Amino acid sequence: MKILVTGAAGFIGAAVSQYLINRGDHVVGIDNINDYYDVNLKHARLAHINTSDAASHFTFIEMGVEERDKMTALFEEHKFDRVVHLAAQAGVRYSLENPNAYVDSNIVGFVNILEGCRHNSVGHLVYASSSSVYGANETMPFSEQHNVDHQVSLYAASKKANELMAHTYSHLYNLPTTGLRFFTVYGPWGRPDMALFKFTKKILEGDTIQVYNFGNHRRDFTYIDDIVEGVIKSLDNVASPNEQWDGKQPDPSTSKAPYKVYNIGAQTPVHLLRFIETLEEALGVEAKKELLPMQPGDVPDTYADVSSLVADTGYQPKTNIDKGVKAFVDWYRDFYNI
Ligand SMILES: NC(=O)c1ccc[n+]([C@@H]2O[C@H](COP(=O)([O-])OP(=O)(O)OC[C@H]3O[C@@H](n4cnc5c(N)ncnc54)[C@H](O)[C@@H]3O)[C@@H](O)[C@H]2O)c1
Repeated sequence: MKILVTGAAGFIGAAVSQYLINRGDHVVGIDNINDYYDVNLKHARLAHINTSDAASHFTFIEMGVEERDKMTALFEEHKFDRVVHLAAQAGVRYSLENPNAYVDSNIVGFVNILEGCRHNSVGHLVYASSSSVYGANETMPFSEQHNVDHQVSLYAASKKANELMAHTYSHLYNLPTTGLRFFTVYGPWGRPDMALFKFTKKILEGDTIQVYNFGNHRRDFTYIDDIVEGVIKSLDNVASPNEQWDGKQPDPSTSKAPYKVYNIGAQTPVHLLRFIETLEEALGVEAKKELLPMQPGDVPDTYADVSSLVADTGYQPKTNIDKGVKAFVDWYRDFYNI
């Protein structure tokens, strides 16, 4: 199949592209390589893809999803079978500093993706949502059946908006769409703005790490390979209408239209201080910690109910944090020659 992967130079996008290339799909990857974090890491991820044996199946184009004319031309030229939309302005905290970046990439960009799919008969759009859509919800584990109307950051609201817009296109144009709510993804080639990367860097440099919410967060940390498995299984399981869907008791996760949303998590929430201990063990160094209050926009706990994805696709997360954190540390030491 010919598949568009947006955000292909990103943490998840590069890993998904690699998987698709390896199995023989033709991937067109796009990314604007913005400097929200170190662009060298983004280029290195792309270089890593290009040096694989199957490099001939990968085409990369540097462009932004909010560039409407270029997006129209891209979709017309390539006539994609499927689209995996991962490009976004990510990060909860940065959405308090630079809200417009979220509107441009996550809202305007998403409409361009939907329009491209609509006018070029794309067979399935799979796009990144986020566990942050659960916002102020406290019933655990978080289920796609729960109402999610109380986001606590503009980032989260932009992801919820994507789900709403996707539903309208599934309804109006019969476009199969699947939204994936990722839960704190970590692993090799990970993101420098996220806790594991920041902690590792600081601990190795002998600096103090800032631990928010006094370390009392619980996060459903999910290893990158498990996320890739969930993305691919979802991509291959084209969203279809739920014939039993009842407008009098509307299930938020399905529809009479070909629309689905799934959680992708490890289903194993881990206390932040326990996560740091695992990192200390993998590094063989004890961290100097500064315990601080919760940050605005953050949520205290996340915990995914993944039963729907398991039932529909056979998804099964396999990597625990001991193995996953060690794999990250091994990659980090190798990549930065430490
Ligand atoms: N990593 C996580 O824990 C996590 C959790 C929930 C949701 N997500 C979502 O998953 C997706 C992938 O996340 P990631 O962790 O790989 O982040 P990432 O920042 O590493 O990857 C996103 C990529 O998109 C690119 N990009 C940003 N704006 C763009 C634009 N306007 N046009 C083209 N490219 C653009 C960036 O340059 C980056 O390479 C994002 O949509 C993110 O919001 C990630």
